[in-house]
Amino acid sequence: MNKQIVLLSGDGVGKEIMESAKIVLNMIANEYGHRFNFQEHAIGGEALDLYGTPLPRETLDACRNADAVLLGAVGGPTWDEYPSHLRPEKGLLEIRKELGLFANLRPVKSFRPLLHASPLKEERVKNSDIMIIRELTGGLYFGEPSERRNNGEAVVDTLAYTRNEMEKIVDKAFESARLRRKHLTSVDKANVLESSRMWREVVNEKARDYPDVQVEHLLVDAAAMKLITNPSGFDVMVTENLFGDILSDEASVLTGSIGMLPSASIRSDGFGMYEPVHGSAPDIAGKGIANPLGMILSAAMMLRYSFGMEEEACEMEEAVNQVLEQGYHTSDLQVKGGKTVGTKEMTEVVLDMLTTRSVSDSICSMYA
Ligand code: IPM
Ligand code: MG
Repeated sequence: MNKQIVLLSGDGVGKEIMESAKIVLNMIANEYGHRFNFQEHAIGGEALDLYGTPLPRETLDACRNADAVLLGAVGGPTWDEYPSHLRPEKGLLEIRKELGLFANLRPVKSFRPLLHASPLKEERVKNSDIMIIRELTGGLYFGEPSERRNNGEAVVDTLAYTRNEMEKIVDKAFESARLRRKHLTSVDKANVLESSRMWREVVNEKARDYPDVQVEHLLVDAAAMKLITNPSGFDVMVTENLFGDILSDEASVLTGSIGMLPSASIRSDGFGMYEPVHGSAPDIAGKGIANPLGMILSAAMMLRYSFGMEEEACEMEEAVNQVLEQGYHTSDLQVKGGKTVGTKEMTEVVLDMLTTRSVSDSICSMYA
């Protein structure tokens, strides 16, 4: 297959980890006879410096014409004092909205060699395998600008959703649950918020179309607690934008390091943008020590969701699993023993693993 991929490395460690993903993707392309054409564009702080906007028109147009987008990270202290419409993060929010990427998939699964790096007891996290599905283009993040007011004395942010927006994300979550362990936890704040009451209604209506999926409703505060007390009790979790932002960061530390976690932001036609869950990590940028595995696993998600290349995706995921099994890790992973390597060396061991191992399905069902 021939695919056009836009690379938005962004800020901080973005460039270093993007390079790793590119190298690994080229290796996969060679092995399977695909052609991946990469086109690099600016976003976030870099775009602000170069073009005075966090999302240049040219970047957005290139994404619109591509088959998929890979994103590194945006943001950093350089732009902290910029007004909100000129912050690197604004570029990220705008691109999600403009491209219609309403479904954010954040799988959280622990790798066996990293279990002891979790802040929770090993036996508690051991069987955790959660797919967090966060609505990404609505809610408090995107209240009408005219309704966002701050007159110095009072301030307003608006939480708005249409029924249709809720139906789309809830459908996506039921479909995902069907491919996994058929359990869906819907998270809301229906004891307080009107939007949550409609959300719950939509989930209950949709549940009739998916009788094979077991549905549970949890209030967001209880869900935050259960993520710590019983993470293995979750299969697919679906929630609105802000709750999903918070819960996915909470869940990400369960597995030992946020540096490992990939994400997909997709729409119904299969187009998507893929990025690691971690941020731009300005404190370690340029040092060659960033963990490239979250980015590599994000590229694997791209192969699976946007290109239908299941076997290729599995191969990448299994290679990552194997390098961890062999004791390789970057400095963000607080693991005992093994060998600490930098970004380039980690990428090389992943490449070696790709050339020497055969595909097994031991881990690749993890992101269904
Ligand atoms: C995320 C990030 C973003 C968000 C920020 C950088 C705007 O935290 O992708 O989770 O809040 O969505
Ligand atoms: Mg976040």
